[in-house]
Amino acid sequence: MTHRILILGGTTEARQLAGKLAARASVTLSLAGRTESPVAQGVPVRSGGFGGADGLAAYLTETATDLLIDATHPYAAQISANAAQAARMAGVPILALRRPGWEPVEGDRWTLVGTVGDAAQALGPAPRRVFLALGRQEVAAFEAAPQHHYLIRSVDPVEPKLAVPDAEYLLARGPFRDAEERALLERHRIDVVVSKNSGGEATFGKIASARALGIEVVMIRRPDLPDVPSAETVEALAAIVDRFGIDHFVRPVDERGV
Ligand SMILES: NC(=O)c1ccc[n+]([C@@H]2O[C@H](COP(=O)([O-])OP(=O)(O)OC[C@H]3O[C@@H](n4cnc5c(N)ncnc54)[C@H](OP(=O)(O)O)[C@@H]3O)[C@@H](O)[C@H]2O)c1
Repeated sequence: MTHRILILGGTTEARQLAGKLAARASVTLSLAGRTESPVAQGVPVRSGGFGGADGLAAYLTETATDLLIDATHPYAAQISANAAQAARMAGVPILALRRPGWEPVEGDRWTLVGTVGDAAQALGPAPRRVFLALGRQEVAAFEAAPQHHYLIRSVDPVEPKLAVPDAEYLLARGPFRDAEERALLERHRIDVVVSKNSGGEATFGKIASARALGIEVVMIRRPDLPDVPSAETVEALAAIVDRFGIDHFVRPVDERGV
């Protein structure tokens, strides 16, 4: 019997994992449906919210999903919490792909803050030239600090535009090369970068460039995520599935109350 795996995605790793596991199981990738034209995922995709943990639990049961994999972005805390809860409710095993965060090194000028709102405050009262590459939902918080010049990069256009007098918008999708990131920061005379601690290679260029140029980084701390069995890389997660086999994760039908 072919096993069914649901991967909660929206990240490069989720797509890579889906590709790897597709040979061993029937894989569906779930996207939130926020990005207007997501990149091709290579496996069947479903899109849009489930309606909370209850909705996800119902979906897992209806689709007879055998294994749930949370491979969402480290800052997508709500869906990760829902995933852990839904897995418990539906009696479906869960694994998570938890990409490690970046670590500061000697000489880095990182200011750690808890939220996007705190980041806007941490820029201080004097006008600065700020690079925001945060995702379009979050940048509105910077309207609270309208004295700065903002360079705002996002995958989809920021609509409505920020109610600040001095903002420039760039549309681009990663990965971003270090040299290009450095050139961008220099060309726009950026003196502070606001970032999430996303981890991974694809968006590290701005952090590496800030390091090289001695620029401050206002780093938004990671949210707390539920404690579920996890791996740090696509390879490690696929190896767990391989080592034990999907059957290992699947509880007998009578235990699931199906
Ligand atoms: N947050 C980031 O910085 C970031 C960066 C890059 C990519 N992403 C990706 O963008 C998506 C949304 O992130 P977010 O931070 O807005 O999430 P979130 O705050 O944790 O989730 C909000 C709601 O969006 C729906 N949702 C989120 N991810 C979903 C998925 N993969 N499939 C189906 N529904 C999903 C769920 O709705 P229901 O409750 O109705 O099910 C969830 O309750 C995620 O797929 C994430 O991996 C996020």
